[in-house]
Amino acid sequence: MSKTIVALDFSSKEEVVNFLNQFDEPIYVKIGMELTYACGLDIVKTVKEMGHHIFLDLKLHDIPNTVKGGMKNLANLGVDIVNCHAGGGIAMMKAAVEGLEIGANGGKRPLCIAVTQLTSTSKEAMNNELGIPGDVMDCVVKYALNAKEAGMDGVVCSVLEAAAIKKACGPDFLTVTPGIRLATDSKDDQKRVATPDYAKEQGCDLIVVGRSITKSANPKETYDLIENMMK
Ligand code: C5P
Repeated sequence: MSKTIVALDFSSKEEVVNFLNQFDEPIYVKIGMELTYACGLDIVKTVKEMGHHIFLDLKLHDIPNTVKGGMKNLANLGVDIVNCHAGGGIAMMKAAVEGLEIGANGGKRPLCIAVTQLTSTSKEAMNNELGIPGDVMDCVVKYALNAKEAGMDGVVCSVLEAAAIKKACGPDFLTVTPGIRLATDSKDDQKRVATPDYAKEQGCDLIVVGRSITKSANPKETYDLIENMMK
């Protein structure tokens, strides 16, 4: 199984199909809000029919009952991973898992992971705008422990926090890490970034890579380079 999840942050089915046509083997992709809001959830079917594994990154964050209902309806799309925001609290995360179990109706439910702090959030923004004091690390580890208590399968965090989360939540608790950049890349809007080699060193299970691959001159070559760094 590949360790690199490619973020399909495109706005049309045509761009997605052209991009995926470069790959002969199934890869892991992430479908987020840009693509879903452009194409609807039909895009999940298109990508699945091409044989790829899917992390559906819709980051649910609402009252528990609404998240439960939303997850119930996502459970049968055949995706591998879905997510919600840990900031919604333990009751909301429990409701997310419950919704998936109801929707899966005794079958295999998608894994459910919690977004801790976005990798575009700095300590300053977390303290001064979100009103959360202290270090990002402490907040992220606390959110990961909440997610574990709620019965979630893992978290989305930055590479910088992955090892501490494994220590606090155990080796089987998944860490999925965006904010990945090659040493030569621009950081764009991301703040807590790291290279694929460092992600491997820190024990991250899966890395999420968007622009470093999708905007590179040769996406397939860059994908292979990054995937080899994670092996
Ligand atoms: O282009 P880039 O590699 O920065 O894309 C990262 C992807 O990961 C985006 O699709 C973004 O929505 C997602 N993501 C993130 N930070 C999180 C959760 C998801 O960057 N904490």
